[in-house]
Amino acid sequence: MSNIHDERTVELIEAFHKQFGQSPRYLSRGPGRVNLIGEHTDYNDGFVLPVALKRSVQIVLRPRPDRQVRIFSAEFGESGFFDLDGIAFNPEQLWLNYIQGVAQSLEQEGFGLVGIDALVSGNVPRASGLSSSAALEIASAHAFLAAAGQNHLLPGPRLAQLAQRAENQFVGVNCGIMDQFISELGRANHALLIDCRSLDYQLVSVPEEAALVIGNTRASRSLASSAYNERRSECEQGVALLQRALPGIRALRDVSSAQLEAERARLPATVYRRCRHVVSENERVLHCVAALQEGDLAAAGRLMDASHDSLRDDYQVSSAALDTMVETMREVAGCYGARLTGAGFGGCAVALVKPGSEQAMADTIFERYPKATGIWPEVYTTKAADGASVVDLGE
Ligand code: GLA
Repeated sequence: MSNIHDERTVELIEAFHKQFGQSPRYLSRGPGRVNLIGEHTDYNDGFVLPVALKRSVQIVLRPRPDRQVRIFSAEFGESGFFDLDGIAFNPEQLWLNYIQGVAQSLEQEGFGLVGIDALVSGNVPRASGLSSSAALEIASAHAFLAAAGQNHLLPGPRLAQLAQRAENQFVGVNCGIMDQFISELGRANHALLIDCRSLDYQLVSVPEEAALVIGNTRASRSLASSAYNERRSECEQGVALLQRALPGIRALRDVSSAQLEAERARLPATVYRRCRHVVSENERVLHCVAALQEGDLAAAGRLMDASHDSLRDDYQVSSAALDTMVETMREVAGCYGARLTGAGFGGCAVALVKPGSEQAMADTIFERYPKATGIWPEVYTTKAADGASVVDLGE
């Protein structure tokens, strides 16, 4: 939960006042996320195990009596405008499209929204695989719903779906449900096991003997969106071919490792490897949940290592920078396991470590990673934090 007296919130309220000459009425917050395990499984109806971050997108806002939306972005230092009755893709201010898309998605769901004056600010690193887009979408959804007095009406999983729809259909990015879901439903000190088919979810307590370190490669992810779509279609191709022998399956979620091996000959070599990643990754997520529940961090770490190796070798979404980051993390005493997190091709890696070894890990990364890659990284330590929230700041 955001404390309305914390420094950042006070700054936001002041900045809002400067921009709009009034005080904001609500503060909404959507966190970024880091995925512990279960990568490229969400769009295969599978399992994921992310945690919400303390880093978030925050919006302070005031409802308006009309349907105008005026938003100042603190990061971009610019204002954006739109009318709820004239929502249209804005090719010049891409950040505004996430907010427009969410407004459209909520209206399509039957919510009658009102205009807002809003100031948005975030500290989730952008384009780094920590879901700054989902954080913005979720914060925007709560901003609009709070302004319209309808914040209590939408169950979390549905709200996540509407935010995902905004990204798929309005922004045009074909992501799965994981990022929006965890931003909405994350819980402090817990990871969330999400069944991306049924949208059932279960809190999994992160043992106190475990801390998380995130290494941002700060390497460009230029390939990410075309390759992401290519991987999705390779998975669909795999399902179509496997269905000839296994007519009951709807997605790779329904296929076991044994079935995949038995039908291997039906699949082109690349498609087989993509499928092998997804099928084995789903199994790893469930094993990792069991390991965390038993407090067996060594086993959880080994599963994270295996996840990375599978993403690198079978799914082929790692990069030289990510591999270097992961290998550097693994060399540090106290590291249980490390892997790339998010879509891949750049962005971040996450390590599960013994509390107390975070600094040593950061030092090692700063010493070795720039030498190997020529890039200056960023390192964040984090604990699993709460999902989205809205605070009424009063009149
Ligand atoms: C991106 C997408 C998610 C998920 C991951 C890969 O973060 O937004 O839906 O597919 O990639 O696990």
